[in-house]
Amino acid sequence: MQTPDRTTLLRELKNYLLLLEDVGYSEIPCETKLFAETGSLEPTIPSPVKIMASGKKATQLAQVREELGDCTRCKLSQGRKNIVFGSGNPQADLVFVGEGPGADEDEQGLPFVGRAGKKLTEIIEKGMNLDREKDTYICNIVKCRPPGNRDPEKEEIVACNPFLIQQLKAIKPKVVVALGKPAASTLLGRSVPITKERGTWHDYEGFKLMLTLHPAYLLRAYTVENRKAVHEDMKKVLKELGK
Ligand code: URA
Repeated sequence: MQTPDRTTLLRELKNYLLLLEDVGYSEIPCETKLFAETGSLEPTIPSPVKIMASGKKATQLAQVREELGDCTRCKLSQGRKNIVFGSGNPQADLVFVGEGPGADEDEQGLPFVGRAGKKLTEIIEKGMNLDREKDTYICNIVKCRPPGNRDPEKEEIVACNPFLIQQLKAIKPKVVVALGKPAASTLLGRSVPITKERGTWHDYEGFKLMLTLHPAYLLRAYTVENRKAVHEDMKKVLKELGK
């Protein structure tokens, strides 16, 4: 077998670390076997399949990520730097679904890490008194950045939708929250007037679905009314979660 060059090795290592992060690891799982067993004191890094077996939901989520692969199912793949699969706890009872990665998310390969992400973290941690990493899982209706932050197109949403459904089926949350009109409209399969329908419960593939305003909208229209609306919606979510 040919030895891969340094660039390939680094790319594969980066993909491996992103995969671990995607399925909920915050540290590198590492096994150090005894000298007597292996003839070496070098730590051995187990294969993803071996590690993921530690949690059924994490394993299933890792399988979904693997199936997505280096996706080229729609044209968004042409302009992306990184696939933004999702992040958080695969065991979480609560999943937030946004619209699609922006520039910061594309750069880092992680959802909601820019300004809207900071607002979402504030809603989760200050508003709901939950821990973003421990209590939630966050993903988007499309996993690659739409150019210039335009709304994702129908065929892009359709190409990505099976992966969103599989993510939710792996996690099996008690509640899914759609953030903003594109996410709500995608999940409900119709054009949702979000300012009218926010705060209402729906069914998505058997999951309890709450609709609320997108944090980026909240930043743009930072009114007492909008902030109160999101607060009320999240209170309903907490009640449903028994918190
Ligand atoms: N907005 C979204 O809808 N998703 C992200 O990941 C970031 C910003």
